[in-house]
Amino acid sequence: MKDALVFDDVRFDHGDSEMRFDLAVKSGEWLAVIGPSGAGKSTLLDLAAGFAAPSAGHITIAGRPMAGVAPAERPLSIVFQDNNLFPQLDVFRNVALGIAPDLRLTAADRRRVEGALAEVGLAGFGKRRPSEMSGGERQRVALARVFLRDRQLLLLDEPFAALGPALRREMLAILTQLRAARTQPPAIVMVTHHPEDAVGHADRTAFLEAGAIVAIGPTRTLLSGRADPRVARYLGTLPPERST
Ligand SMILES: Nc1ncnc2c1ncn2[C@@H]1O[C@H](COP(=O)(O)OP(=O)(O)OP(=O)(O)O)[C@@H](O)[C@H]1O
Ligand SMILES: [Mg+2]
Repeated sequence: MKDALVFDDVRFDHGDSEMRFDLAVKSGEWLAVIGPSGAGKSTLLDLAAGFAAPSAGHITIAGRPMAGVAPAERPLSIVFQDNNLFPQLDVFRNVALGIAPDLRLTAADRRRVEGALAEVGLAGFGKRRPSEMSGGERQRVALARVFLRDRQLLLLDEPFAALGPALRREMLAILTQLRAARTQPPAIVMVTHHPEDAVGHADRTAFLEAGAIVAIGPTRTLLSGRADPRVARYLGTLPPERST
C-alpha cells in the first residue's frame, strides 16, 4: 500500500528561518504532532494542504505528487480549531457540502447526510445554524462532513483545543468510532498541545522543534521522554537547560 503522505526533503522559508521536513505517514496510520508554539506544526499541515508552497523538495499524497495541485484538488480533508463551518448554512447543508459542493442532493445523498449526523450523535440537529450550537457540537458537524467526504488523509490542526478534557476525550472517541466503521480508515495527522490526546489513539507521535521533526516514534515511547531530552524538556519531565 502507498504511503498516505510523504514529505521528501521539503523546505519552507517564512523569512528568518528555513523549515525542513522529512516524513512518511503510512496508509491508515494515526500520527500525532506535538511541539512548542511556533515550531511549525501548522506550517507542516499547510504545506500538505497546499495553503503554503515548499521552496524545495517533494510532497506526495497517496502516491500522487502535489506540486502545482490546488488545495481544493488535493485528496484530503482538514479540520481546524474553529471556523470550519459556513455560518449562513444550517448544519445539514454544512455536512452536505462534503458530498455535493452545489448542494444538489439526491434522496440517497440526503440519507447519507442524516446518517453522518447520527454517527457523530447529532441526529435531529440538521436545521440548526452553527451559531446555535456549542463549540463541541460544531466540531462534531465538521467531523461528520469529513467522514462523508471519505478522503484517505485527514489533517487536524488542534481541532479540540478549545474543548475541556472530558469533551476532548469524547471527540477522540468519535474519531476512533468513525475510523472503526470503515474498511479503509483514513490516515490522520493530528496536531495537539495535549500529549495525552495522543495516548491510546495515535500509532506514532512526532515532535517538532524550530521547523523540523526532531523526534518521531511509537506514541508511548516518544512520550516517555526517554528517547530524546528535547521531548522530555517540552513535556516538563526534565528541567530546562541552563544557559550559563
Ligand atoms: N504567514 C506567515 N508569514 C511569516 N511567518 C509565519 C507565517 N505563518 C507562520 N509563520 C511563522 O512560522 C513559524 C511557525 O508557525 P506555525 O504556525 O507553523 O507554528 P505552530 O507550531 O503551529 O505554533 P502554534 O502551536 O502556536 O499553533 C512561527 O515562527 C511563525 O511566526
Ligand atoms: Mg499552529
